[in-house]
Amino acid sequence: MCGIVGYTGARPALSIVLDGLHRLEYRGYDSAGVAMVSDGELLVEKRAGKLANLEKALDELPSGCGMAEGTTGIGHTRWATHGSPTDRNAHPHLSRDNGIAVIHNGIIENFAKLRVELEAAGIEFTSDTDTECVAHLLAEETAALDGGGRPEQRLAEAMRRVCRRLDGAFTLLAVDARAPGAVVGARRNSPLVVGRGTGENYLASDVAAFIEHTRDAIELGQDQVVLITPDSVEITDFDGRPAAGKDFHIDWDASAAEKGGYDCFMLKEIAEQPRALADTLRGRLGASGEIQLDEVRLSDQDLRDVDKVFIVACGTAYHSGLVAKYAIEHWTRLPCEVELASEFRYRDPVLDRSTLVVAISQSGETMDTLMALRHAKEQKARVLAICNTNGSSIPRESDAVLYTHAGPEIAVASTKAFLTQLVACYLVGLHLAQVRGIKYADEVSAVVEQLQAMPSKVDRVLETMEPVRELARALADSRSILFIGRHVGYPVALEGALKLKELAYMHAEGFAAGELKHGPIALVDQGTPVVCVVPSPAGRGVLHDKVVSNIQEVRARGARTIVIAEEGDEAVVPYANDLIYVPRTPTLLAPLVTAVPLQVFACEIAAARGHDVDQPRNLAKSVTVE
Ligand code: G6P
Repeated sequence: MCGIVGYTGARPALSIVLDGLHRLEYRGYDSAGVAMVSDGELLVEKRAGKLANLEKALDELPSGCGMAEGTTGIGHTRWATHGSPTDRNAHPHLSRDNGIAVIHNGIIENFAKLRVELEAAGIEFTSDTDTECVAHLLAEETAALDGGGRPEQRLAEAMRRVCRRLDGAFTLLAVDARAPGAVVGARRNSPLVVGRGTGENYLASDVAAFIEHTRDAIELGQDQVVLITPDSVEITDFDGRPAAGKDFHIDWDASAAEKGGYDCFMLKEIAEQPRALADTLRGRLGASGEIQLDEVRLSDQDLRDVDKVFIVACGTAYHSGLVAKYAIEHWTRLPCEVELASEFRYRDPVLDRSTLVVAISQSGETMDTLMALRHAKEQKARVLAICNTNGSSIPRESDAVLYTHAGPEIAVASTKAFLTQLVACYLVGLHLAQVRGIKYADEVSAVVEQLQAMPSKVDRVLETMEPVRELARALADSRSILFIGRHVGYPVALEGALKLKELAYMHAEGFAAGELKHGPIALVDQGTPVVCVVPSPAGRGVLHDKVVSNIQEVRARGARTIVIAEEGDEAVVPYANDLIYVPRTPTLLAPLVTAVPLQVFACEIAAARGHDVDQPRNLAKSVTVE
């Protein structure tokens, strides 16, 4: 979702802001723009499309126009919500006198009413965005404050006044030609961090934007306004009362945000999975064999009182939740429901203080998940977050947190975050089972040991992926690919299909293998590729045999079967056109190995079709609107 960068200091701001925008590209965007304050003037350039379009336009500017010299500036990558992705709707947006420039992430829900008021006062809008109102409102408020205080203080006060009139979710940054050296930011329900330098300061939607310049950061709290100048950072609430953000040190390795020799971030992140799993598992067993979460603001008694679990999440994180349901119900004997976060609160779910809601999110900022979490808290439910981003909104608002230590995930399509979410879900299941006295410490350690064997199993899967890549290239022109699975193999089928849709823009569907005969089997035609996720024959024989029957059903109707099965499973050989073996794994943990070939498969098909694997069209990494 939209990326935001602001800089003020002694160095030319343009190149710093553009570098920052490049580092935020992973969030997904469809237009970009910058505004620089130079010599008491505001210089703006913006373009639809990728940053290269903006950079080309900047290169064509006459030299000496001031754009490259300004030492204060803001930049934005926009993921369209209000108004199509055009030059005109790209940010920054300007006040009528071109004195104030604004960039924004989020949605201003009362913008239509504000626009009517502004138009009635004679203001003509030059875009279809909700953001433009803010530029006009800031101009009105700074004019009303004229004569009072220093120009940068006026801009900050104007921002506070405007924010009090806005509904919805927003991160806003503004610069004013009359306040050189100042950038003002504000946030509500949308992230904003300050990067503290020496003689310079930064603002950004996330730390990736300024990680190469500083590792000292402040996370702004809800409903706060910040004014940065080269030598100061002043934070207040929307009413002007002094406030404090949360200081933190960024411990990411800067190279973790680079491609490290791979063609794309997704390939790098697929390869990082064994390490990500090991990092997520590290130090999870306490001295007496109990599972360690990262932040716990709940007592064991609270967990013993739980009588129902709800999992809420979106996209790939939702699929990890679907797998978790099998483990949680099996290990804790608690009923567990999994719900798309965007649907959760609209169906009035039955929640109370003995309900545990598990919110799963890589970014920790997905608005649908955040809203589901808030709804759960309003109903007094306890909330446990599984998240990959330290200090983001979802863990901050939860009662307990288990962080996945996957490191920064840059590719829009989630891979290492998914695998680590699965591990985190297993750990939560074990923790609940233990606290509730259903599993003893030795039983928990036995499963943890099985989990600890998974990084090397995933490594082995990754070593044997060349035939999968070949197969992907051979199937790159398919019209449609189907995925089937049972039990935990069913969410894996859904995830395999999602990856293909996201990356290859190809029709793909995941089905519960047993449901196939109730309709979807009509889709199977001569040569239709069907990927079949087969459970271990060692675990639950009945389950395995049923899936083998389902494979025969689709083969009988002409399907090309691509079978993912456990090493040594001879029963599938006669029915597999293509066979991918994965290491032997306990049934519940199998998604950790069966999902990997599907990631590689989708990535390779997308590359063969010539698509941008890291930034698929229309998608955003972090979706901060509902
Ligand atoms: C977006 C991304 C998906 C991701 C989903 C949930 O739609 O494109 O890859 O699975 O959001 O994101 P979260 O950060 O909450 O895990």
